[in-house]
Amino acid sequence: MTTPADLAPVEPELSEAEKQFNDLIAADSRIEPRDWMPESYRKSLIRQISQHAHSEIIGMQPEANWITRAPSLKRKAILMAKVQDEAGHGLYLYSAAQTLGISREEMTDQLIAGKAKYSSIFNYPTPTWADMGAIGWLVDGAAICNQVPLCRASYGPYGRAMVRICKEESFHQRQGFEILLELMQGTPAQREMAQDAVNRWYWPSLMMFGPPDDESPNSAQSMAWKIKRFSNDELRQRFIGMLIPQAEVLGVTLPDPKLRWNEEKGAYDMSDIDWDEFHEVLAGRGPTNSQRLQRRREAHEEGAWVREAAAEYARKQAAARAEVA
Ligand code: 3HC
Repeated sequence: MTTPADLAPVEPELSEAEKQFNDLIAADSRIEPRDWMPESYRKSLIRQISQHAHSEIIGMQPEANWITRAPSLKRKAILMAKVQDEAGHGLYLYSAAQTLGISREEMTDQLIAGKAKYSSIFNYPTPTWADMGAIGWLVDGAAICNQVPLCRASYGPYGRAMVRICKEESFHQRQGFEILLELMQGTPAQREMAQDAVNRWYWPSLMMFGPPDDESPNSAQSMAWKIKRFSNDELRQRFIGMLIPQAEVLGVTLPDPKLRWNEEKGAYDMSDIDWDEFHEVLAGRGPTNSQRLQRRREAHEEGAWVREAAAEYARKQAAARAEVA
């Protein structure tokens, strides 16, 4: 005879390794490359970390575009340092992803073949110097909001890479704020240029946090694994809260007439984000998607001799060490 107990779903037995993984996550400890991890956790980390690395590398382009035209030697030096920082961030992140068993070549191939995602934000043009200010203030500001919680990501190499990245991002954010502040204290034409850049970058910077929570397929699992600590909408709200007092100091207007604090909801009311635009950019049809990928492909091809020389140098060093041994 079948009893109700027979009909109850049978919970699969967890292996010792799975229990250990779950215990480490529950205790807020770190998972290290040597630890067992579920295949889906490993894949999700490769997905997020490689997309993040690609974003840093593609993200060098909109600003590198201004290095030769920055208005003073000091501004050139700062911008050059910032673009180099982004390259460094990409490299830490590729290294973190490599600890999960994917090679750098595979990730690079995915990027240049147009198969990998990178942040939507880097598919917008930078027509004026004020764009350097708006990118620093808004884009790097959004990056900090999103990435400070990632310093506590459950995967050790990712969390540790994020600590250094976030320190540098705060410098980037301040330099952008300072560019805008200087322009806002300048001539009417400079103020207009700064406001125009803020108008163009505000909405795309809100899209950096990803789709709304009810349309975010990865958030719930990622938060259960403590990779992400906050949802996309929570971080977007936090970012807006950070911008409002800073916009007042700058004297710029955030381009959303509906933006106001709603005491009852404990959140900001705002106009709808144009999610069609977001999906178009993700589908490769943003204002500069093809230009960005084309430039990355060219840089990859032009850099082939550097990779070959580095590999040959490493081979000679290894041979010399082997001979001594
Ligand atoms: N641009 C491009 N793709 C985006 C995106 C965006 N702004 N927001 C979301 N997506 C993609 C996701 O990657 C996911 O695609 P996939 O399933 O094919 O991988 C899909 O849209 C659905 O989104 P989810 O919300 O489910 O995805 P996540 O839970 O991964 O959240 C995220 C998206 C918030 C971007 C998260 O992955 C994250 O925090 N990543 C780390 C930070 C990062 O990559 N930042 C990119 C900016 S780089 C940067 O800031 C450099 C600095 O110098 C300015």
